[in-house]
Formats: sequence, C-alpha cells, structure tokens
Amino acid sequence: MLQETAMPDLMARTAPLYERVKSVVPPVEWPFFARDIDAILALKRARNAVILAHNYQTPEIFHCVADLVGDSLALAREATRVDADVIVLAGVHFMAETAKLLNPGKTVLIPDTAAGCSLASSITPADVRLLRQRYPGVPVVTYVNTSAAVKAESDVCCTSGNAKKIVEALGVDRVIMLPDEYLAQNVAAETSVEIIAWAGHCEVHERFTAAEIRLLREQYPGIVVLAHPECPPEVVAEADFAGSTAAMSDYVGTKKPARVVMVTECSMSDNVAVGHPEIEFVRPCNLCRHMKKITLSNIRRALETMTYEVTIDPVVAMGARRAVERMLAV
Ligand code: 13P
Ligand code: SF4
Repeated sequence: MLQETAMPDLMARTAPLYERVKSVVPPVEWPFFARDIDAILALKRARNAVILAHNYQTPEIFHCVADLVGDSLALAREATRVDADVIVLAGVHFMAETAKLLNPGKTVLIPDTAAGCSLASSITPADVRLLRQRYPGVPVVTYVNTSAAVKAESDVCCTSGNAKKIVEALGVDRVIMLPDEYLAQNVAAETSVEIIAWAGHCEVHERFTAAEIRLLREQYPGIVVLAHPECPPEVVAEADFAGSTAAMSDYVGTKKPARVVMVTECSMSDNVAVGHPEIEFVRPCNLCRHMKKITLSNIRRALETMTYEVTIDPVVAMGARRAVERMLAV
C-alpha cells in the first residue's frame, strides 16, 4: 500500500499517461491503475522486458504499458524483432506461444495461463491427422488461433489479416482451413480455391447477427459497419468492410467515418476511439472473457515473479515454427 504522501507524486508522474486514456477511463479508477502502471514501467526497465499487447486489451494496458500493439499478425511479426530478454504477452495463450516459437531463447511470460480461446480449444492434433487421412495431399492452412501442437501438424499458418493471401499463395485448387468455420467461409467467398472447413467458432464473434446490424443501420443513419471475419458470413455480408482488428483500426484512421460500429470485442472501440475524438463510436460489442483475464495487476505480478513462463516441447516447436515462418515469408 502506498503511503498517503507518495500519492501526489504518483499522480504527477502518471498524469501524461492519464491524458492518453481520459476519454475512456473514469477519473475514479485512475489512482488504482496508476499504482500498477508505475510499478510495471519500473519492472520493465529492471527486467529488460517488453510488453506485446493485442488490440482487445483494455485501454490502460494498451495505451499505458504496452511497447508494441496490434493484431495477431503484427504481434507475430513484432515478436521476431524484439531486442529484450523478456516478453510479456498481454493477450491469449496462443499469442504467447507464437511469440515463444519465434523467440526460443527469450523468456516469454503470460500473466494468466487460463487466457485461452474457443477456436484454439476446438481442435486437437489428432483431428488434423484424421483430416489429412480423409483428404490426402490437400494442404492444411491453420489459423494462428490454435495450439502449437496443432500448428505443428499444419503446412502453413494464417491470420485474419492474410488468410486469403496465404490460401492463394499455395497455388492449389483445394485447401483445408482450420479451425474457424466462419473465417473459412468468408475467405471462400473471395477466392476460387475450394476450402474444406472445420466447425470451430469464436465465442465472441459467433454471437453477432445480421438482424442486429440491420437494426443498427435503422437506429443510427449513415453508420459505417466494420466486422471481423470471425463473424458469421451473413453478418459480414451486412457490413461495409470486414478485416482483421488492425485492418478495422486502419479503416477508421484513413477513412474517418463520422459514425462507426466495430462488430467485434469491446476494447477495440475504446482503443481506437482514444485517437479519434471526432468520430462517434456506436458500441454494441461482445467481451472476450479470455482476453479480459489479463489485467494490470497480473502483468505486474508476472514481472515481479517471472511467471507464468511459456514453454513448448522442442519437437512440437520445430514443426509449429516452420508453419508460422512459412506464413511470415508470404
Ligand atoms: P486479429 O488477428 O484480427 O487481431 O484477431 C485475433 C482474434 O483473436 C480475434 O478474435
Ligand atoms: Fe479467441 Fe474469439 Fe477471444 Fe479472439 S475473441 S481470443 S478468437 S475467443
């Protein structure tokens, strides 16, 4: 507990950070965040650590302690360029595994090992082997939202930001694309390559409906609808644009719509809205309970105790790394 006399110093030190997020973080919450933020900034220096944060992290993490932010593809790319001893992954477990695959010699920490993903838990390595038996010779494209063990059974990985490009780069007529059925269907709608899908779904995006989008258009005339491609195809069909979290953020930054809805996880709008006070963000959104397991206090604890360290079996890591590196090379 901080001494009363230390509080004014802490508030003064962290005031520039509060300036960044004051439109989305109520003043009453800031003193609690400020303590952890101040400690995390000191711990990062002491440990020579960086924090990689996904676009779905809350604004006080995303804007106040993260060194690198982005979608899954950007986080994977940034992970190859990290020049620190320790990486804290503020995101879900598969993202931390990807960072470890690309940095086998570094310490990669995840603040809560229960930060999973409904897509990653929808498929096992044995499922992939069975699919290969059923469709001999058909290449397997695996979404990064999977375990390292599933990646190791795959030919190449993809993210929502490059799925179509990866599918087409294989130069074949037919691919197996795992495990997100809706992403596979959304990619299939844009390519002549035949796609064999798996019935995995994102528990956040599968809940959006086309009727919901039509109602929004009635209630908010002129609204621009941006949807993540993990949404069902009928939702994507109602949207003005579908793309990865980074692509949605870029759309807002470049097109600057007067009124917008991001059909995705709730923190996305908060994080983008911080940089665009002139834009009206309409916010029906769904929370990802996994992403929300990461907090300032468990990031602080991760750096204090150097837990929880992500480890991957070396044989699994070799296969999984090949699939991720093949994606990054496309
Ligand atoms: P992005 O790669 O678009 O950031 O998506 C990751 C994710 O988990 C979306 O639900
Ligand atoms: Fe997984 Fe969906 Fe959460 Fe992304 S939003 S981590 S895909 S459950």
